[in-house]
Amino acid sequence: KRVVVFISGGGSNMLTLAKACQAADYPAEISCVISDKASAGGLAKAEAMGIPTRVFERKGYADKAEHEAAILTALAEIKPDIICLAGYMRLLSGDFIRAHETRIINIHPSLLPLFPGLHTHQRAIDAGMKIAGCTVHFVTEGMDEGPIIAQAAVPVLAEDTAEALAARILTVEHKLYPLALKLVAEGGVRMEGGRAVTTPGTF
Ligand code: GRF
Repeated sequence: KRVVVFISGGGSNMLTLAKACQAADYPAEISCVISDKASAGGLAKAEAMGIPTRVFERKGYADKAEHEAAILTALAEIKPDIICLAGYMRLLSGDFIRAHETRIINIHPSLLPLFPGLHTHQRAIDAGMKIAGCTVHFVTEGMDEGPIIAQAAVPVLAEDTAEALAARILTVEHKLYPLALKLVAEGGVRMEGGRAVTTPGTF
């Protein structure tokens, strides 16, 4: 399966996906890494692994629609089977999502539906949560609310700062995302009728 990964920053999740794709029996390969930031540290990581990159700086376009149109044009050439958002900090419009409905997945650093949006770790600590974690989900028009594919939890420790919890969760994200992408690439789970449907015998 052909995968395009969207990043805005360091790209540590993209890097773990790229490494997973290097295994001969892994059912996906990354065709391109796309970023909305020329400064994204993940671009150099992708290039170091020989993965083509494309940058679409928002300021280069008159408005959101033109920005997305340029990305959609590139996607029409690449023809990905799956789009992985990985630290991509921009909301996709309904039109964009509909153009690739059921093919877009995202990793979010909370146990959705708890804590959609930003500052998830501090919010979990402030809420007195004893566990926290991350979620890979299909992307739908609403922010961080698409059908859940996989989740992983970690303990929240008594003196945890948001940074400590974020680091603990990031480590687990790097295990979860390659597993979730494998599931989607193999057809073990798919989005159908607005839900995540698991193929019997998958797990
Ligand atoms: C991660 O916490 C991820 O969950 C969120 O963005 C953060 C940075 O990701 N989506 P990365 O290092 O750029 O992959």
